Amino acid sequence: MESMGGLKRSHYCNELQQANVGDEIILMGWVLRRRDHGGVIFVDLRDLRGITQVVFNPEYNEKVHAKAHDLRSEWVLAVRGKVCARPEGMTNKNLQTGAIEIMVDELRILNTSPTPPFPLDEEKDVAENLRLKYRYLDLRRPKMINNLRLRHQAAHAIRTYLDENNFIDVETPILTRSTPEGARDYLVSSRVNPGKFYALPQSPQLFKQLLMIAGVDRYYQIVKCFRDEDLRADRQPEFTQIDMELSFVDEDDIMTIAEGMIQRLFKITLNKDISTPFKRMTYAEAMERFGCDKPDTRFGLELINLTETVRDCGFKVFASVVKKGGLVKSINAKGCATLSRKNIDDLTEYVAQFGARGLAWVKIKEDGEWQSPIAKFFTEAERNDMGQTLDAAPGDLLFFVADTPAVVHQALSELRLELGRRLNLIDKSVFDLLWVTDFPLLEYDEDEGRYTAVHHPFTAPHEDDLALLESAPGKVRSRAYDMVLNGTEIGGGSIRIHQKDVQNRAFAALGISPEEAKDKFDFLLRALELGAPPHGGIAFGLDRLMMILTASDSIRDVIAFPKTQRAACPLTEAPSPVARKQLTELHLRPDWKED
Ligand code: AMO
Ligand code: AMP
Repeated sequence: MESMGGLKRSHYCNELQQANVGDEIILMGWVLRRRDHGGVIFVDLRDLRGITQVVFNPEYNEKVHAKAHDLRSEWVLAVRGKVCARPEGMTNKNLQTGAIEIMVDELRILNTSPTPPFPLDEEKDVAENLRLKYRYLDLRRPKMINNLRLRHQAAHAIRTYLDENNFIDVETPILTRSTPEGARDYLVSSRVNPGKFYALPQSPQLFKQLLMIAGVDRYYQIVKCFRDEDLRADRQPEFTQIDMELSFVDEDDIMTIAEGMIQRLFKITLNKDISTPFKRMTYAEAMERFGCDKPDTRFGLELINLTETVRDCGFKVFASVVKKGGLVKSINAKGCATLSRKNIDDLTEYVAQFGARGLAWVKIKEDGEWQSPIAKFFTEAERNDMGQTLDAAPGDLLFFVADTPAVVHQALSELRLELGRRLNLIDKSVFDLLWVTDFPLLEYDEDEGRYTAVHHPFTAPHEDDLALLESAPGKVRSRAYDMVLNGTEIGGGSIRIHQKDVQNRAFAALGISPEEAKDKFDFLLRALELGAPPHGGIAFGLDRLMMILTASDSIRDVIAFPKTQRAACPLTEAPSPVARKQLTELHLRPDWKED
């Protein structure tokens, strides 16, 4: 192994062009490939920006050529040489530097490497666990480096935009008290406070509100948040929020700032123009038309409510569900009557995962008649009625789910997305942004036997609905809003409660007793008393945004060192066992046996 011997890099591996021919240059990087062509050795040298072909020709320099025989994939090199035009017909259009190659005068082998555990050529599919175990190799791949770079550009654009809009970046603690965002906390024990624990923040929610009370006026932070919840393709136990809070504002002010930020983000990262203002839809409308609060509105297949139409129909499954206060809704898959029985059975199985006890279906034949296992249960008049409501035409395939509103909405919204994917109805080049507003403030949790906050307990109720807080808590609309991009919730926020008495009423509606409120949130209630301005804010999931901007299937592809589905890090092997002594020091008494 050699030192750099005073060599200084003159260019990155994507830079050299025809215009550089004749220049003496120095490159540093990794061997991507080495090819031996009857005496002449070609090496594709790679760095974070690109690839340059370097040539070891015995006729050009015999000593250096001899040394190049040893080179293997992922060895680290410094090369000094001359830029030459590639011979006629040998240019590589797929390579930024495809017009030139380097004739090498000096080769320094800065480090060697055994054969890497997986090839770093882009196309190869590698098991994700292996990629995560050797993440530093995985990140050498151009796609991964590009993801990191784009994330950097995004964060930079956001900081610039928020700075221009008078936001200041304030750091908030990581070792803190529990913040109720609805997930489980990660706890950290305290050596100097036996039996007491910090919680890692699920978000900086309470601190940003305190900063408004402090008069900071406009706060932002690109900040890690921690939530111990079941992981999915777009969830990580530690993830990054673009978090902000503003004073003396209403919903429209915050939405305008947020739209401007997203607009800037798309312009800087993808050079894409997004028009503002974004569409808005109430929660009630989103549920009615799409069955979910983050609708993908890039395609149709909307849900159609048949509850009234089938109330007294002859099909007992439908009529009895309606009688019990449930819903019957339908999707008209236009022109899909050609779907096979097997396809329909698959879809029935698919919706069963979401609690649907069945998936009734009807194919509309050329003569307008129904082909369906449930046709016989309906009179002709009933069939006509339903057909009209559903705008059914020959060739259509109708799907029905009858159940509680929650099951009907989840099953049909998932069916809708699945049909959208299977039938290729989603235009991948479209970025569909919309706001969902007027969420309910509270929802009833059957398991806990009480109301819980849909957003978090500091969200302001609609002023018109304040009186309902005690009489009909489930009916109170909140001043919360989510931003949805292509069917993913990328951000959410609200106007907050800034008056102590309203906050206490909200706690009461949540079944939080005055004692419990005092115990957990005394500092907030006290601060609300001491001149809290009206305020509100929003937080975006940066990882989710990057997933969409980079068209990645997994949130892990936009995070340098992510966790697996089991919240583990295959690289560092965290979480890891600790010595009993360490636990004792922390006043923890484990009841498991040491290995
Ligand atoms: P919320 O809980 O909606 O709001 O979070 C804001 C945004 O963060 C992203 N997000 C996640 N991303 C990856 N992995 C996760 N586990 C995860 N959880 C959430 C989502 C979400 O829209 N304090 C409030 C914001 C506010 O009221 O201002 C909050 O945290 O994109
Ligand atoms: P059955 O009479 O139970 O054989 O059901 C007849 C058809 O109705 C089958 O295609 C079932 O999938 C469907 N079905 C049964 N229960 C429901 C339900 N709750 N919602 C929608 N379709 C249902």
